[in-house]
Amino acid sequence: MRLEGSSMAGKDCVKVAVRVRPFNKRERDAGSRCIVSMSNSIITLQDPRNQQNRRTFTFDYTFWSHSGFTRDPTGLFIPEEEGGRYADQASVFQGLGEGVLDNALQGYNATLLAYGQTGSGKSYSMLGYGPNKGLVPTLCSRLFHFIRTNQDSRQCQVFFSMLEIYNEQVVDLLSRSSRSGGGLRVREDQHTGFYVEALRRIPSDSAAQVEQLMEQGTRTRSTASTHLNSNSSRSHMLIILQLKQIFSKECITKQSNIYLVDLAGSERQRSSGSEVDRLKEGTAINLSLTTLGNVISALAEAALGKKVVHIPYRDSILTKLLQSALGGNSRTVMIATLSPADICYEESLSTLRYAERAKRIQNRAVVNEGPTERLVKELKAENAKLLLRLNRLDQEDRPSNHQETKELRRLLTHNQLQIRAIQTLWEHRLQEALQDWEAQYTSITQERTMMQMYPYVVNINEDAQLSGVIKLFIEDGDWDVGLADSSPRSISIRGLGIQEKHAVFSNQQRRVTITPLSGSKVIVNGVPISQKTELQHLDRLVLGSNSTYLYMGFPLERGGEDWTRYDYDYFQSELAAAEGVNIQSLCEEQGQRTLQPDPSLLAVFYDYIRLMPMVTEANQMSQELNKGVEFTLEIKNLAMSDSKGHDLEKEIVVRVTSVESKQVWVWSKVKFINRKFLMEEVYRQQKGGVAEEDVAPPPLSRDRDPFWDPVEPLHLGGAHLWLQSLPFRIRVEEQVEAVGPEGTEEAILQTQLIPCSPAGLPLGEDDILIDPTELLGKRLDFLLVLDQCCGLRWLKEARNRGVQIGFQMFDSPQPLYTPAVWHNVNPVLDYRIQFTALRTSPDLLIHLQSSALVLELWGLQEGCSDLGCSLDGVRKTPEGSIIIDRASAPDNTVVDGSDLSSSLQALNQDLQQLRISNAALRKENSALREQLNNSARHGVDGGRGRQERRGSLRTSCDADFARALKVFYHSMTSVRGQLQRLRRHRPSEEQDLLGLRLFVDEHGRMLKDFGEQLEQSVSALKQDVAAIVRRKREKSGIWSER
Ligand SMILES: Nc1ncnc2c1ncn2[C@@H]1O[C@H](COP(=O)(O)OP(=O)(O)O)[C@@H](O)[C@H]1O
Ligand SMILES: [Mg+2]
Repeated sequence: MRLEGSSMAGKDCVKVAVRVRPFNKRERDAGSRCIVSMSNSIITLQDPRNQQNRRTFTFDYTFWSHSGFTRDPTGLFIPEEEGGRYADQASVFQGLGEGVLDNALQGYNATLLAYGQTGSGKSYSMLGYGPNKGLVPTLCSRLFHFIRTNQDSRQCQVFFSMLEIYNEQVVDLLSRSSRSGGGLRVREDQHTGFYVEALRRIPSDSAAQVEQLMEQGTRTRSTASTHLNSNSSRSHMLIILQLKQIFSKECITKQSNIYLVDLAGSERQRSSGSEVDRLKEGTAINLSLTTLGNVISALAEAALGKKVVHIPYRDSILTKLLQSALGGNSRTVMIATLSPADICYEESLSTLRYAERAKRIQNRAVVNEGPTERLVKELKAENAKLLLRLNRLDQEDRPSNHQETKELRRLLTHNQLQIRAIQTLWEHRLQEALQDWEAQYTSITQERTMMQMYPYVVNINEDAQLSGVIKLFIEDGDWDVGLADSSPRSISIRGLGIQEKHAVFSNQQRRVTITPLSGSKVIVNGVPISQKTELQHLDRLVLGSNSTYLYMGFPLERGGEDWTRYDYDYFQSELAAAEGVNIQSLCEEQGQRTLQPDPSLLAVFYDYIRLMPMVTEANQMSQELNKGVEFTLEIKNLAMSDSKGHDLEKEIVVRVTSVESKQVWVWSKVKFINRKFLMEEVYRQQKGGVAEEDVAPPPLSRDRDPFWDPVEPLHLGGAHLWLQSLPFRIRVEEQVEAVGPEGTEEAILQTQLIPCSPAGLPLGEDDILIDPTELLGKRLDFLLVLDQCCGLRWLKEARNRGVQIGFQMFDSPQPLYTPAVWHNVNPVLDYRIQFTALRTSPDLLIHLQSSALVLELWGLQEGCSDLGCSLDGVRKTPEGSIIIDRASAPDNTVVDGSDLSSSLQALNQDLQQLRISNAALRKENSALREQLNNSARHGVDGGRGRQERRGSLRTSCDADFARALKVFYHSMTSVRGQLQRLRRHRPSEEQDLLGLRLFVDEHGRMLKDFGEQLEQSVSALKQDVAAIVRRKREKSGIWSER
């Protein structure tokens, strides 16, 4: 159902509509929730992480296309029940398209823009899919219908143009000639504003013709996208209809330009956190979209009455062309499209905010009306005069007049011919275009016939709108596929990593095979092939780096199946699965066995399959340009956890390795995407330039090379040193394993945690505490010792490397690093540092009891600087120990901000509480001691002196308990290590049945070990405690008294 906020006529504010689409497959798989709701013209967006947070917006129109629909036998999506709220394509046209058409017919310029993130339904709304025709085709068919039924009153001329702006270059999508290097030029006309020079304008007079033209334009886009240089989600597609209406009787013409714009995906690559790339984002990557945003913001400000000096129309191609649409002479409508899913919350919110700004823009539209061309008018007037004179001469009928009459008649015919010429010229151009179109039409009918005769492959594009557009037929016999187009028996394809002669298709005895030629990459259903392979209907082919095709078998083999399920995602998931990455495996790494995978894991998985083809392409470009670097995808933090042992958020990163120097970089996803774009630019320049100008462009300087970066320390992994022995003042010595992001063992660290005196002298067993709360408010000192690093994998790979260890103790404001050690697989660190809590706070106590110190292992490489290990600016005690737990430490410089003091107050209250309960416990404890002492004094333990007896409790029982605890913590550390190993242990991808069986055995053994270790440590603790209790009873007899 269409819901209107206000009518289209009247004020010239930009009208804004919002449409929400159904869930797509990814979102359904992920069990997404719909966070968008609509009621009249109000739309509400629910923050999935915070139920209280709802954002409400009001727009001119809202279209609910999320639910309540059904698919009729012709494939049309219609409301489930009549009058249902589902907005189908027809009602969207009714809401928006009709207004645009009316405006154009009245003589206004009209613009329709579709804005939203990639995959949100822009193209679905603008162009449509299959029978679900979008706004543009419907608008054209209604326009031509109107023209035909109103022929008496006016003569109409329609010109159709279709262009694409990619990377600030204008490409004519209807041009026959191959794409010119720099694209078409945008020029400015004093009266009419900016226009594209030499853009093809095709005279059109039927909807069918326009649809063919659109198909042709889409085909150009599909072909272009296989030539590496474009990713359709980053390009803007514009259709321009120029409508001229000549009202002969009234002697006026009305002219209007209709701009129909399918904008580039609005998603911005948000960088996570502080990271900034050395190389600026490809300047042109989104310049048009960014500038559009700036123009809209500036206009929105102006509409609010703010003084805006400059509207940056001239900053990009798109805004130049849309100048009249935004704040100028046009009636403009924007349709903002949304995904309904919770995972798209941020993008949807940003789309709605954008749309809200657009809504404020005020245009000044005027009817572009003028007297019919002066020439016609003057000719008509002159003719009238001539006729008058002729009549007069005829009446006079003098012989001398004959000559003049003749001359006048000649003039009259000439003038009449000229009037007719204007008419004829249009008809002629139309005729030409129709003939042109006929040729096009023949090729399309030819294609239909071929489809009924031969098997073929169709292109599958990341953008569903461009899929299935290119068909390569495999007629009888052998066919070379590749770049070469020389022989009549070759099928020419282009794309990254495609060889001159790439493979051979063979169609013999109703069998179709593909044979890769040496050195070329062919993948069938996710598996690389090297030999002749028979193709089955609906097999998936990847040729070269990333040219994806679906094989359609012989007509008889084809059922009525819907092949659209074999979309780009399907191809990439299949490739990822072949590499061992799939949702199941990811969940298993995470120890999740639930049916519904964790959405964050799904997001990682989809990132993975999205980046995979890009990485393949980057590798291909690196190879062709001799860059000597290799890219691989990694899942960061797959096996890592924070100081509490919680899993860290996973994300995809790209590891870059220099083949020769073995230098390594790790790039974030955002950085890689940016760099990939820059690489494409370099690739185009280097490869394209050679062919065109015959001179190789100068080599790129290093600081502008997107394949290169200065080396930096690399995070190799982390080890957990659990702190829970510290509150008991128990000394521990541990060998901890540093684990890499994907679960590899990076090194073993030999470490110690030693409770000590303020002067740094280790405490003895006598100082062990039974009740850690005794520490509260008291001073705690301890040493962290990092003795040695063993078995460094980073060094095993290449010796010209070094390492440092970084860590951040509790609340210390900055990480500390050990000095760098180089060239050694087992370097001695000999690092010792003391920490002091002046007045142990409950927070610190809780931290020590429940957290680990994460020791981060950093890899150094030749040419990179160390991580600074100076202790300047760190607060220290007079003895030089580093002060932690600063909130509770007396500090004269404490700011008396109310926040701080209130949180201090809260802490003090907590402390008070703990003190009270502690005091109560202590009282009980001392009562018990008293009893114990009494019973001891009465004879049982007569062999020891008095001095000793006072401390006897501690040495005999408490210390026993402390020792038992120490042993227990020790064993728990190794149990924890075993658990980590178990989580990471998984079968290798290539394992056969036997391998799997061995794996299962091994796994079983590990589990058994784990169980036994756990049992042992727990039962050891139980026994110890039982022994202690028994001894206590024996000594005091108090337990038996009860
Ligand atoms: N309103 C809708 N109803 C049904 N399917 C839709 C709708 N909008 C989008 N889709 C589907 O979602 C996918 C992405 O839509 P598309 O219009 O190509 O996105 P965009 O152009 O914004 O990148 C397509 O497969 C399309 O069929
Ligand atoms: Mg699209």
